[in-house]
Amino acid sequence: MDSFYNIFNGKLDQISGHNIWVIILPACKSKYNPVLHRIYDLKILLLLDKIKHDRLNMNNLILHDKEFRLFIESSKIDDVICKMANSMNEDLKDTAPLFLSVLNGSFMFTADLIKQITIPKTEISFVKIASYTGTSSSGSIQELIGLEENLEGRTVVILEDIIDSGRSMTHLLEYLHAKGVQKVVVASLFYKPKAALYQVDIDYCGIVLENDFVVGRGLDYNGLGRNCPDLYILNA
Ligand code: IMP
Ligand code: MG
Repeated sequence: MDSFYNIFNGKLDQISGHNIWVIILPACKSKYNPVLHRIYDLKILLLLDKIKHDRLNMNNLILHDKEFRLFIESSKIDDVICKMANSMNEDLKDTAPLFLSVLNGSFMFTADLIKQITIPKTEISFVKIASYTGTSSSGSIQELIGLEENLEGRTVVILEDIIDSGRSMTHLLEYLHAKGVQKVVVASLFYKPKAALYQVDIDYCGIVLENDFVVGRGLDYNGLGRNCPDLYILNA
């Protein structure tokens, strides 16, 4: 066996949705060896079985004591973020915007969106507020950490993962206005209008949800699930 690789490129629609899987196996440079090829065939079958198993499992997530099911696929969320970025590029092109990412939840949304922002004088900063434990709003706002920039006279674009009760956003807006910002723009990837306890005007709203608890795409359930690119909904 040597260091050359044989690339088996198969389209496995029936088991992997729309994905095309590329399987790389070591190849033999010497003449055809039926035993070795039989072994490779078996390895491919085992790998296909594993892919099928993994894919089926990806439709459901178990995080701590709760089960979630696939709700919105990553590609749909990508499209929405692309549209949000295009609108911002147009609307804010004559400003020097400071994008303010609200951690932890909006880290993925921020990374996805900011790559598509083409406004030359773009700056990014991060703040942290948390009002959630478990699957319902805790009702308490924790301290705002991390904002060191001088905000006077600036256009600030808040990037939130989700607006639920609106409590965190209301708190942040009050804080920013007190710091003398010239203009505040609110962008939220997800929004649950039926959960609203505080009225918040959202300038860029990605996807409107019912009042359900969701995870993935940066959103967590007690620390887990943030890494999933798709959005999952809590099984009732
Ligand atoms: P709000 O202050 O009630 O609007 O909640 C704001 C924060 O709670 C969001 O930025 C999220 O981090 C978190 N949150 C709200 N809804 C959900 C959810 O469905 N799943 C996970 N986190 C959520
Ligand atoms: Mg958040």
